[in-house]
Amino acid sequence: MLTAQTPTNIAVIKYWGKRDETLILPINDSISVTLDPDHLCTTTTVAVSPSFDQDKMWLNGKEISLLGGRFQSCLRELRSRACDFEDEKRGIKIKKADWEKLNLHIASYNNFPTAAGLASSAAGLACFVFALAKLMNLKEDHSQLSAIARQGSGSACRSLYGGFVKWIMGKEENGSDSIAVQLADEKHWDDLVIVIAVVSARQKETSSTSGMQDSCKTSMLIQHRAKEVVPKRVIQMEEAIEKRDFPSFARLACADSNQFHAVCLDTSPPIFYMNDTSHKIISCVEKWNRSEESPQVAYTFDAGPNAVMIARNRKTAALLLQRLLFHFPPHSDTDLNSYVIGDKSILQDVGVRDMKDVENLPAPPEIKDNIPALKSKGDVSYFICTRPGRGPTVLSDSQALLNPETGLPK
Ligand code: ADE
Repeated sequence: MLTAQTPTNIAVIKYWGKRDETLILPINDSISVTLDPDHLCTTTTVAVSPSFDQDKMWLNGKEISLLGGRFQSCLRELRSRACDFEDEKRGIKIKKADWEKLNLHIASYNNFPTAAGLASSAAGLACFVFALAKLMNLKEDHSQLSAIARQGSGSACRSLYGGFVKWIMGKEENGSDSIAVQLADEKHWDDLVIVIAVVSARQKETSSTSGMQDSCKTSMLIQHRAKEVVPKRVIQMEEAIEKRDFPSFARLACADSNQFHAVCLDTSPPIFYMNDTSHKIISCVEKWNRSEESPQVAYTFDAGPNAVMIARNRKTAALLLQRLLFHFPPHSDTDLNSYVIGDKSILQDVGVRDMKDVENLPAPPEIKDNIPALKSKGDVSYFICTRPGRGPTVLSDSQALLNPETGLPK
């Protein structure tokens, strides 16, 4: 039995469009920041036993089917690379060939709402592959494991590393060179603070899989983006990260998010992932950035309305949160402690302790009048404060999600 924890990640140069649907091979490189698993992560326990009569998986306590292509691709790749395993203390011996016959039990838990559009499948599939690779004693390094995780969910390959990560699109038809590499670890640029606005989505969005397919079939902009824009942007983003050049980092991240959503609009029928609240957040950040000498905050939006904002340091993060709480106060009966979650110390830097303090926040200086129309109560469900974080880790058996005696969820 083995338990692992894996982070989620947010792309600052976006992955949009596949050149191979089955192997999940992208049409451009992408770059992401790994988010601190203390705030957003998946924990997965995997177990093997001759007493298990079939492969089984539980997600957040509920049994789910493993028959989907994404799990099966990963299981096939993992089993074919599994090695001999021996635990003398427990008297367990598994030969390489046995892994094809033995059944697995897998229990996974996301410490954040699975349906909130927070890249749960990236953390989930990365954890699935990482935990099983450890259990099956695979000799492959993280980059080779990333190529397996990629076949479960494209962006999962970037969750095999902490810090700043590039998914290289690769050229090979079999996908062997479509892997993730670490550009820098999380300590390289630890001033950055990430604030996520979880935006209340009323409508079910178009899935990324079908959205990408539609964009590739119908958008002319997507080809220009993949061939002309992203290759140059990736080089510039790598340089910005290496030099910790925040103004360049922010300009590139915002421009790339906006171009990704422009591709969505250029798709037929058009895809709207952002909503009015997302647009209001962009205006708020753009207005503030323009009022300062150089950008203070970057924003980026995935295939949904949630805003991910990256502030250059704690001080700017507090000023950002102050603006966000001014524009998007919670309903009066909300507990401030559940409205801002994650690293709550940022809230102390803002100087707000309760709802009264939120109501009395001053209007940001870059907006002229404190008119009520500028406040949008209830448009944001909650905020998560976090930072760049570490990659996958193995946890102790005391944190296992499966009962060691029965192999069933605890
Ligand atoms: N999809 C969303 N969360 C997941 C998880 N933890 N494991 C596998 N697939 C997922």
